Amino acid sequence: MGNGPDIHELQTIEHDVIVIGAGGAGLRAAIECSRQGLNTGLVCKSLLGKAHTVMAEGGMAAAMGNVDSRDGWKIHFRDTMRGGKFLNNWRMAELHAKEAPDRVRELEEWGAVFDRTKDGLISQRNFGGHRYPRLAHVGDRTGLELIRSLQDYGVHSGIHVHMECTALDLMKDGDRVCGALAYWRDTGRFVLFRAKAVILATGGIGKAWRITSNSWEYTGDGLAMAYLAGAELLDLEFTQFHPTGMVWPPSVRGTLVTEGVRGDGGILLNSEHKRFMFNYISPRFAPETAASEEEANRWLAGDKSARRPPELLTRDEVARAINAEVKAGRGSEHGGVYLDIASRLPAEVIKKKLPSMYHQFKELAEVDITRQPMEVGPTLHYHMGGILVDAESQMTTVPGLFAAGECGAGLHGANRLGGNSLSDLLVFGRRAGIGAAEYIRSLTVSPQVNAEQVQAGIRRATDILNRDSGTNPFVIQDQLQDMMGKNVGIIRTKSELETALGELEKFKAEAARVKAHATSQYNAGWHTALDLRNLLIASEAVAKAALTREESRGAHTREDFPGERDEWLKYNVIIRRGRDGEMVVEKRERKPGPAPLVEIANSKIEDLESGKVGADYK
Ligand code: FUM
Repeated sequence: MGNGPDIHELQTIEHDVIVIGAGGAGLRAAIECSRQGLNTGLVCKSLLGKAHTVMAEGGMAAAMGNVDSRDGWKIHFRDTMRGGKFLNNWRMAELHAKEAPDRVRELEEWGAVFDRTKDGLISQRNFGGHRYPRLAHVGDRTGLELIRSLQDYGVHSGIHVHMECTALDLMKDGDRVCGALAYWRDTGRFVLFRAKAVILATGGIGKAWRITSNSWEYTGDGLAMAYLAGAELLDLEFTQFHPTGMVWPPSVRGTLVTEGVRGDGGILLNSEHKRFMFNYISPRFAPETAASEEEANRWLAGDKSARRPPELLTRDEVARAINAEVKAGRGSEHGGVYLDIASRLPAEVIKKKLPSMYHQFKELAEVDITRQPMEVGPTLHYHMGGILVDAESQMTTVPGLFAAGECGAGLHGANRLGGNSLSDLLVFGRRAGIGAAEYIRSLTVSPQVNAEQVQAGIRRATDILNRDSGTNPFVIQDQLQDMMGKNVGIIRTKSELETALGELEKFKAEAARVKAHATSQYNAGWHTALDLRNLLIASEAVAKAALTREESRGAHTREDFPGERDEWLKYNVIIRRGRDGEMVVEKRERKPGPAPLVEIANSKIEDLESGKVGADYK
């Protein structure tokens, strides 16, 4: 045995499979594993139920056709591909569009109480980039209801829940995954999870930026652990700035303001009280977007011949437009723009449809949204990039390692449509559970944990406490957030991205000398120091991929390379190479999609709806 603690003295927990992360994807994956007869452990960094999933407030996209019977999976698929600027994984986009309605119905069977239409069906609302009202919702608390339902159902499915437990490193036997080293956040004691398969569902990387809707847990843990274990990462440059976060007061800057406000008729205004989104309609969306306020109002009133308002363009487009208005000096008092629902809907309807927004603004900003406009601006919300997975099974390029939800990648391409995340995590959480079960059934020999890997993980963590002096981890995280906001923001340039990479080298050097004071018990400084490794890996991967992609597509905008470029209809894959583990970006050709799907994605909407295109494809 190597130099270090005796791993036989370490707390060890054995499961067939462990799921790391307990948001919607992790819970759905764990439920599926349990249904497949696997002994399942669910490891949550925080308390069960506290997940970024709740920040998907406005709904879950599924072409159920409850509010507009013209909807169907092919239209949802087409919207998703167009919203993702055609970089989406074809098969994932197809599976998602086809399976989402069943996952919504299943969730209802498990106890979710959705809002209803007059006819008693699950109600669906409009959202950006979705042609029809498609978001099954519970007021503006849909993510919360999803988590509550999965949690209630999951705890009765025999899942073993390990709360306030942070995974540090994945363990490998040869090329296969065989568990994870973790620590309990309260005691600081280490725990080794032995498992035949691991499913990562750790969410995003929002805490690398200061203005974010993400809370403290989202430090790219799964992404970094997978990368260090040899998994490939995909299209990391695509980071989504949700157009509407709160901008005032400073203590709540970045808190999400649901797209449901715009879905229910809210409009964006600049400091001149102009509805500016009409000036930002890109050619791709022009044929399906209202050209005047008069037309947009007719659409809102239910006129089926009218086109959708420009406030419901995709998030990348709306965030860029807000950014441009503010830069042009037409921003609101505190550096955002105005979002007005008060003049569009009666107060009682606003309170009924958007209760959380009403309370959020009343309590946090002293703004009554039934009477006054909100001040909003872009906030880092979601990561389209992530761990490369197989579309059917969600297995990564490391055998036995799976990824689902936000930490996985492929479905959303260059930009995610609002509402596609809740359905993503149900569709692919379930698939990851099935994939893990099939993988485990195929094993002939159980993988074994290597003591030296465990010892190395413990040494890395305890060194932070044991060294005599070193940099304060909070200072590094603070500087990192400033730096990423400045250099890896909505609009990017070569020189800013190069600056970012230079700064990241300095942060990495500082982080190697980071020092947390006191013991490992209840030690927030130590937790932050441990998170830093992951944040820095994620930030470097985003900056490197962003520098490599010399075009503007979806959520990745290069001022120095405007517009989409055909030669860039490619993937950026990040891999760890060589003995020193250099992070390299590899451009990879994208296989052409199956002909019928390509035809559907590129079709004119009239041709798809009339059945002229895609009718034979089931
Ligand atoms: O705006 C929202 O309610 C967020 C939804 C989502 O990210 O899918």
